[in-house]
Amino acid sequence: MMILLFGGCALLIACIYELWFHNHPHRIGYIPSQLSIIEPHLEKILSKHIGSHEKKYTFYELGCGTGHVLRYISKHHNFKKNFGLELDLIWYNVCKVLSSSQPVTVIRNDVTKHRYNHPAFFYAYLKPEILKKVYDSQGFQNSLVVLLTFSIPGVEPLETINITGSQRYLHLYDFRSEKC
Ligand SMILES: C[S@@+](CC[C@H](N)C(=O)[O-])C[C@H]1O[C@@H](n2cnc3c(N)ncnc32)[C@H](O)[C@@H]1O
Repeated sequence: MMILLFGGCALLIACIYELWFHNHPHRIGYIPSQLSIIEPHLEKILSKHIGSHEKKYTFYELGCGTGHVLRYISKHHNFKKNFGLELDLIWYNVCKVLSSSQPVTVIRNDVTKHRYNHPAFFYAYLKPEILKKVYDSQGFQNSLVVLLTFSIPGVEPLETINITGSQRYLHLYDFRSEKC
């Protein structure tokens, strides 16, 4: 009950803050993934490419915002660890409060500077230039990566999935040396 109350207050403050400061040059845009439309595709990808090997992988949501994808994955899957990385102070705090009862770790860090554990499964809805920096710093090595809308500039995905009825795409990359 208390968690819900705190979560609700944090969300309300975040919404007011977002509406008030959304044009400020130092803000980073927050647009949530529509979990209901990506979920069936995520499930198919995970069952086909990771299957029963989830315990060998660390899950990262890059730029997790309020963390609804992170919490969905932690609830329905069995990864070794579940991490959400978020740079924006407000979204980081909202995510931490909303996720406090789940086995997830929320970290306030720039995704382009973080040191990742591999092998990993990554989910991100981030701008191409940020994705390219993570890729160039070897962040995605030996990992499976699913990206909503934006792909890594200059790197061909294994598969691009058209999300039915949404004009959106999921880009799948497999940088693993050993496949499941
Ligand atoms: C488009 S939103 C996606 C939110 C969430 N992943 C989802 O799919 O619903 C992008 C998020 O990434 C965060 N972000 C942008 N650049 C970042 C960076 N360099 N490091 C960490 N987080 C970042 C933003 O603050 C924002 O919350």
